[in-house]
Amino acid sequence: MKSEHVTVLLDEAVDALNIKAGGNYVDATFGRGGHSRRILQKLENGKLLVVDRDPEAILVAKQLSQEDERVVVEYGAFEMLGALIDKNFETGVDGILFDLGISSPQIDVATRGFSFMQDGPLDMRMDNSQGESAADWLNHADWKEMSKVFWRYGEEKNATAIAKEIVLYRENEKPIENTAELVSIVVQVNKKQQNKHPATRVFQAIRIHINRELEQIKNVLPEAVEKLCSGGRLVVISFHSLEDRIVKNFIKEKMKPVAFDKRLPIAPDWKSDIKTIGKPVKPSENEVKNNPRARSSIMRVIEKV
Ligand SMILES: C[S@@+](CC[C@H](N)C(=O)[O-])C[C@H]1O[C@@H](n2cnc3c(N)ncnc32)[C@H](O)[C@@H]1O
Repeated sequence: MKSEHVTVLLDEAVDALNIKAGGNYVDATFGRGGHSRRILQKLENGKLLVVDRDPEAILVAKQLSQEDERVVVEYGAFEMLGALIDKNFETGVDGILFDLGISSPQIDVATRGFSFMQDGPLDMRMDNSQGESAADWLNHADWKEMSKVFWRYGEEKNATAIAKEIVLYRENEKPIENTAELVSIVVQVNKKQQNKHPATRVFQAIRIHINRELEQIKNVLPEAVEKLCSGGRLVVISFHSLEDRIVKNFIKEKMKPVAFDKRLPIAPDWKSDIKTIGKPVKPSENEVKNNPRARSSIMRVIEKV
């Protein structure tokens, strides 16, 4: 199946980057390059570093860099971002964009194993060239570990029952290999009609766990701010509350005055190195109507002082 990615909050995110004609920018989640292409329209003689951990996204990015010499492509996950920025820019950068989560081709193509709607190998790795797949993990994790993941990252109420059902299946039948097998196990437990597909939460939880998504976001935010020039912008689009909570708490912590000894005659002169720009932005009704996948998105913008 061929799948196009419809970019979310396209104008809003690129406007928020406040592109300078000769600036240096980073699209840390290239995907299919929707935001990157719009950044390039605004950038004259600047430079755009594009990064992704998905080899298929990197192939598309390489095509773009062949057409446009302002584009530099690097393959890697967020944990490498600081080093990749240092490698490609002598000074800091003027803006970094994170459009978190997965792209439509990752969800829609059955062989990537992210979808409970189509049968395929249970993979779910954004970078399918390395690391443990969802099937590998489900076939060795014990029920306690699985239950914790389903609850923590999916808020799945039947986390323990589903985890135990998985253990029974792999012990009595065979190792789990396909998305359809996992769906049928989950559906046996989540029998009651819900407003979402009964496997939604378990699939989300496994995906977050396998790709260490939350850990990656938590670790990259301080590094990203460090790499910004003064006046540089950080734009983050999140797709669920677990991601957005990390971004929100990061901003809150950075803006919280440092504790000082109250007995001092004067308070130390303290200023945060960031400020927030505007309020969190959500997609318009029109955008959600045209692209339902945008519905849970929320964008936060900060500027380095
Ligand atoms: C929502 S898509 C981005 C779509 C893109 N803005 C566009 O308009 O085409 C997210 C992309 O970020 C990548 N990604 C997610 N987490 C990542 C991480 N920790 N390190 C590197 N890339 C990541 C995914 O592989 C995916 O291609």
